[in-house]
Amino acid sequence: MKDFSNENIRFVMKTEMLVGDGITKDLSKHLKANSWGKVGLVIDKGLFEKNQYVVKILEDLKSNLAEVVLFLNDMPEPTYEYLDTAAKTFRDADLDCFVAIGGGSTMDLSKGLAVLKTNKGKGLEYRGFNKVKNIPLPVVAIPSTAGTGSEVTPFAVFIDEVEKWKFGINTEYNYPRLGLYDQRLLDSCPLKIFSSAGMDAMTHTLESFVARNATHISRIFSREAFKLLFLNLKKVSEGDRSKETKLNLLIGSGLAGIALMNSGAGPAGALSYPLGVYFNVPHGLAGSVFLPEVIRFNVQNGYNEYEQLYDLAFPDSGLSIQEKSIKFAEAIETLSRELGIPTNLKGFGVQSEADLRLIIDNSMQLKAAFEQNPIPFGLKEIENTVRSLHGGE
Ligand SMILES: NC(=O)c1ccc[n+]([C@@H]2O[C@H](COP(=O)([O-])OP(=O)(O)OC[C@H]3O[C@@H](n4cnc5c(N)ncnc54)[C@H](O)[C@@H]3O)[C@@H](O)[C@H]2O)c1
Ligand SMILES: [Fe+2]
Repeated sequence: MKDFSNENIRFVMKTEMLVGDGITKDLSKHLKANSWGKVGLVIDKGLFEKNQYVVKILEDLKSNLAEVVLFLNDMPEPTYEYLDTAAKTFRDADLDCFVAIGGGSTMDLSKGLAVLKTNKGKGLEYRGFNKVKNIPLPVVAIPSTAGTGSEVTPFAVFIDEVEKWKFGINTEYNYPRLGLYDQRLLDSCPLKIFSSAGMDAMTHTLESFVARNATHISRIFSREAFKLLFLNLKKVSEGDRSKETKLNLLIGSGLAGIALMNSGAGPAGALSYPLGVYFNVPHGLAGSVFLPEVIRFNVQNGYNEYEQLYDLAFPDSGLSIQEKSIKFAEAIETLSRELGIPTNLKGFGVQSEADLRLIIDNSMQLKAAFEQNPIPFGLKEIENTVRSLHGGE
């Protein structure tokens, strides 16, 4: 078992987080407090059309700021090509910051736009780790899904359509300066967005908890995120859409993002990438289908620390450590089912042997994520996991 001593810990948290019912209503006040009067505003198009509250936010900004240049993002999971096209809207504008209102796609797009505003050329030139030279414009991120955690992370994920891969612009400069959590933005979320975004956050928190690079500080965030996400996603599956439940999910997703960026991802997160790129499966659903299988594999090979998380969800169960760990995989699978998520790859259109090979052969591009798993997880384990999720049902 990993030694969780206090040696050699680096823990980063750079975003000022503001939380509360209606806190974005007077967003202009928060921007002015930072002397940001000229903003590039990126709003998710679907959200803009479905959520009247966003229109109120826009009115506040237009009435109280010197300049608002608006772009409506209509691309879930943006490509580099889309980033370059969106950048043209802001090319000649004199801006102080970018504001993103939307899900992970919109927040990531805004981070990319902030990079391109101060760095010449195309987005692809900055793909990878720490390729960005000039400090980007500040980003204010306001999630409308709960969620990717992009409002606190330094990652901006884009699809490279030429290489058929998802690989972002990742730089220490990308941390949003402000993140606002206002559950009113979630009022228009259908169950499938709660499910997808919520299980993305669940994947982040579970894989960060067991990651080899986890520290006892990152685990504080993983644990708390897990508790908030598990209990409140259950409530959502039962029809609860209360203010508290939505705010808890937003906070849980943010804490999961903080845990992830301070420890590491894992096999389920990595396997979600080929499923997303080749089969258009929304990112969160793509991760959650692998999660129970990866947990089972770890438990079968002697890893039992999931029992700590089981206790948070089901206190006083009276079960042994081993029993709790085994039951933990079942609990995650049941939650997925209750949220209406397929638990078999066939449910996502993965049919033929060639389909399976696409996932298996492409997943190793994220070798670093597999190396974070507490039990060695190589090509053989990837193949077994993918194939076992293709049988039955
Ligand atoms: N940067 C990071 O740290 C990070 C972490 C995880 C995932 N991601 C990326 O985030 C993306 C996924 O983001 P997401 O899951 O938040 O979804 P999304 O931003 O792709 O949005 C999905 C759909 O939900 C709709 N939508 C969003 N908010 C809504 C609301 N409140 N009401 C009604 N409809 C709404 C959108 O219109 C869109 O059709 C992926 O590209 C993934 O790779 C980034
Ligand atoms: Fe994710």
